[in-house]
Amino acid sequence: MEIQLIDIPKIQNAKGNIGVIELDVVPFDIKRVYYLYDVPSSASRGGHAHKNLQQLLVPLSGSFDVVLKDGTEEVTITLNKPDKGLLINNNIWRELENFSSGAVCMVIASRVYDEADYIREYADFLDYVRTNKK
Ligand code: TYD
Repeated sequence: MEIQLIDIPKIQNAKGNIGVIELDVVPFDIKRVYYLYDVPSSASRGGHAHKNLQQLLVPLSGSFDVVLKDGTEEVTITLNKPDKGLLINNNIWRELENFSSGAVCMVIASRVYDEADYIREYADFLDYVRTNKK
């Protein structure tokens, strides 16, 4: 599985850094930005895939693990650098876990929220990717 990490341009300064996400940093048209925060360390988020949604996950603060499954392979990526974002394409099952205290996960998404776009059962996901394999 190809892991796509995106470098977020930064302006470094002894007084602190600025991460800048201009539209050309993100490889899709942005329709929505949301963020996960106050996530208990025991919580597992995600647990779904999307049929038609790209997302860029940016760990604004703290760290968390992202488990990605494409129906064949499984990869776990720790996100803990605010200047490195993880791109997740459609048809990828994701789980987010091991949130550190104070972690904030910003999600930049290519579509507005649409519950019909979710695949929430792993067995349905496997059926979907096998049926839609090119
Ligand atoms: P969900 O995407 O399942 O959360 P996560 O993947 O972070 O664990 O969303 C949790 C709930 O919030 C679900 O009932 C749908 C709702 N929701 C919205 O209403 N709008 C949104 O933009 C998002 C991301 C979720």
